[in-house]
Amino acid sequence: MTTSPASPEPLPTRTQRLRLATDVAHRRLDDSIMALDPFGDRSRYARLLAIHRDFHALIAPLYAVPSLAALIPDLADRARLSAVEQDAADLHVPLAPPPPPRFAAEVPPDRGTAIGWLYVAEGSSLGAAILLKAAMTLGLGPTFGARHLAGHAEGRARHWRKFTAAVDAVVLSAEEEERAETGAREAFDAVAALVRRDVA
Ligand code: HEM
Repeated sequence: MTTSPASPEPLPTRTQRLRLATDVAHRRLDDSIMALDPFGDRSRYARLLAIHRDFHALIAPLYAVPSLAALIPDLADRARLSAVEQDAADLHVPLAPPPPPRFAAEVPPDRGTAIGWLYVAEGSSLGAAILLKAAMTLGLGPTFGARHLAGHAEGRARHWRKFTAAVDAVVLSAEEEERAETGAREAFDAVAALVRRDVA
């Protein structure tokens, strides 16, 4: 009797590689955010809102880039800056002026870098399920104060899978691939810097 050779492990997809590359950064960030006790009361939550608003302000121009919209379905619909701003308005949280965007609206971004940043922003909407539950203990929710943490109407997982399928299908050069990883790391670093600013 002959034994058939074991089938080889499928190669990780681009988004799986990005996840692996940023796993440690993500865990560190979770810890540093939770150390702020952001759900202790509404004033602590306001600090998390300011961090999230600044992160989404950094990437906001990406959601309107036609060449990226051609690659990623419902890209414009995935932007969360206005939802965070609405959350701040709901809670009468005064926000400082946002930081200048990481990507200029009028200059087409590098595809690899943009994909890395978008991976981080979209992925954060998965973890947001946990944050939304915690926000609900403060009387907040998808229609008041925690809009930006709400899942998509079609379901978080399905919306995420559409994103990863689209991003995984994009053909990138080896250099662009590298810049996607650098972009994802840079995005996590940027949020970590916003958290540190909060603590300082
Ligand atoms: C305390 C805050 C956070 C917690 C507790 C948290 C938790 C989680 C959890 C549980 C998942 C996996 C969800 C699933 O597979 O269904 C996840 C995914 C993810 N989160 Fe967070 N997260 C937090 C903050 C953030 C922030 C601030 C960012 C970036 C701005 C971020 C980026 C990501 C990314 C990119 C993924 C997708 C990982 C993948 O490829 O599967 N997270 N998060």
